[in-house]
Amino acid sequence: MKPVEVKNLSLAIDGTVILDDITIDVNDGEFVGLIGPNGGGKTTLLQVLVGVVRGWTGEVRVFGRSPRDLGPSRHLIAYVAQQASQASDFPATALDVVLMGRVAVRGLVRRLGLDDRARARAMLDAVGMSEHADRPVGDLSGGQRQRALIARALVASPRLLILDEPMTGVDRGAEESFFDLLAKLKREMDLTIIMASHDLTMVSRHCGMVACINRQMHCHSRPEELDYQKLADQFGRHVELFIHGNVPHRVVSRHEDDEAAAPACPGIVCPQVPPDAEATGGADTGENGGQP
Ligand SMILES: Nc1ncnc2c1ncn2[C@@H]1O[C@H](COP(=O)(O)OP(=O)(O)O)[C@@H](O)[C@H]1O
Ligand SMILES: [Mg+2]
Repeated sequence: MKPVEVKNLSLAIDGTVILDDITIDVNDGEFVGLIGPNGGGKTTLLQVLVGVVRGWTGEVRVFGRSPRDLGPSRHLIAYVAQQASQASDFPATALDVVLMGRVAVRGLVRRLGLDDRARARAMLDAVGMSEHADRPVGDLSGGQRQRALIARALVASPRLLILDEPMTGVDRGAEESFFDLLAKLKREMDLTIIMASHDLTMVSRHCGMVACINRQMHCHSRPEELDYQKLADQFGRHVELFIHGNVPHRVVSRHEDDEAAAPACPGIVCPQVPPDAEATGGADTGENGGQP
């Protein structure tokens, strides 16, 4: 049974089409990067899968069941929501946060026991956070907080891990080790992962499959088969896919009117261009942007 099967999924909210005829399957053990510009519908699609958003049409199956009625399959799915803000005075330790994930397994009525605490500590260890278990989450860095939230998501032993923009708050230098961690967890816990991101470079480097969404599904393929020119054409202006890292880059879509319309937009940058290809155009591509 596939973790996710979506066919002709559409959703309109207050007359505005948010998702338009989306079809995508996710196979067991895949690591899918869901990319697209801000407002493209990534969060909404993930929320449909976990049953938070309703009112859609089409066919959606998660482990063979409708998200409207996951029943006993609910614990197979773990969801780490997009972090809107970093609450700095949340009065809980990292261990407390992970234990909250145990409540989902036990239910509110049954008290958490020593085995729950042991499991929570084991998960903190798995995400490299054991030494921070007793620190208030407000004192943790953005990346450490994300790790604690992932530990909380995994403490219920899910099979499908859904992450919405997990790189938010993770330092540039720590991104590679963050992906290494996801790869390790995926392997050791036999997970399927779906991760929303607007970072095309990171996703194409680390995910086995890439799905591009901007209201409609524009592509769904292995990263090496992505047609970057087509992506650039389809996402067009206002796109906020930003690219950085050591991969050679080329700006393929940055026009005068783009800058006027969306000054903060760095444009689309294509990785996988040979280092001797045309020089980059000085767009803001991050720390190493444009460097071969
Ligand atoms: N509850 C809602 N009510 C109205 N519009 C919404 C709601 N949730 C999302 N949207 C709209 O749906 C579109 C997609 O949003 P979202 O799924 O958050 O995109 P992304 O995660 O790719 O940035 C946006 O235009 C957003 O304003
Ligand atoms: Mg989002």
